[in-house]
Amino acid sequence: MPGVGTTDLPTAELVDQINRLREEKRAVILAHNYQVPEIQDIADVTGDSLGLSIEASKTDADVIVFCGVHFMAESAKILSPEKKVLLPNMSAGCSLADSITPESLDDWKVRYPDHEVVTYVNSTAEVKAESDICCTSANAVSVVRSLDADKILFTPDRNLGRWVAEQVPEKEVVIYDGACPTHDVLRAASVERTRGEFPEAVIIAHPECRQDVVEIADEVCSTTGMLDAVEKYPEAKTFIIATENGMLHQLKTRFPDREFVAADGCIGCRLHCPYMKVTGLQDLYFSLAEERFEIFLDGDVIEGARRSLERMMAVPRDH
Ligand code: 13P
Repeated sequence: MPGVGTTDLPTAELVDQINRLREEKRAVILAHNYQVPEIQDIADVTGDSLGLSIEASKTDADVIVFCGVHFMAESAKILSPEKKVLLPNMSAGCSLADSITPESLDDWKVRYPDHEVVTYVNSTAEVKAESDICCTSANAVSVVRSLDADKILFTPDRNLGRWVAEQVPEKEVVIYDGACPTHDVLRAASVERTRGEFPEAVIIAHPECRQDVVEIADEVCSTTGMLDAVEKYPEAKTFIIATENGMLHQLKTRFPDREFVAADGCIGCRLHCPYMKVTGLQDLYFSLAEERFEIFLDGDVIEGARRSLERMMAVPRDH
């Protein structure tokens, strides 16, 4: 299902209308770092999954419009159940979140009954509700370290799980077999080819990348962590970025005097999440005007998922 509708309003007028509606409805617009540039630019807050969850939990707005994917809007609803939470385009899904269901998680729990379940936020509210604690890419290592348990079942991202297991060798980490197709497609060979063109570049990779990519990266971090990582290299001119290409906009806006290159050397090609890119200004305008598409969750699911998310939010960021 696409957004709510279309209009012939020119972009400048659309932006004015969005600004008017945002004020009128006391709405806050949250946008993930992978959103298209015009959505990132109009948002009140742009950030990674952890930053946006924190923002959703403390906002005093009446309405949260979440420009991201479905599980992110669900997290906002879980953390602010009394608020109206809107996802402007209902087709904004997540393949990784779809790779685990409550039933498949149950199967793994039966196989590993003594393991504490750590679930990446890229998962449905129902799966979060059946987990012991959540994590994001910004706090996964700290979350696993914070647990008393020394046997962990990490779901659903196998690349993030492997990366965490490497940082916490003292624990036994069993890893579910999901992956983000956008990150999982990238190989070190493509990154090396890009490095061939920019031999001095610093490589920054998201931990959803495969092991061969992470091993050649100088920094491995969440999307917002990438902004901080750039600060660590005041002399570097060029950075090779191994994550969804929407991140390039944030980086270029924040550091206009530096150069940022997609890790596969091809902006808008493979490092492109189709779901993150379905939300445009028209969707945002209609979402505010018609107050759609509202996120509804069962009270029991909210209660269970909130426990896992709040437990996570008590743990400090890794980076
Ligand atoms: P971040 O939390 O690092 O922004 O990542 C979110 C995500 O969905 C990565 O694919």
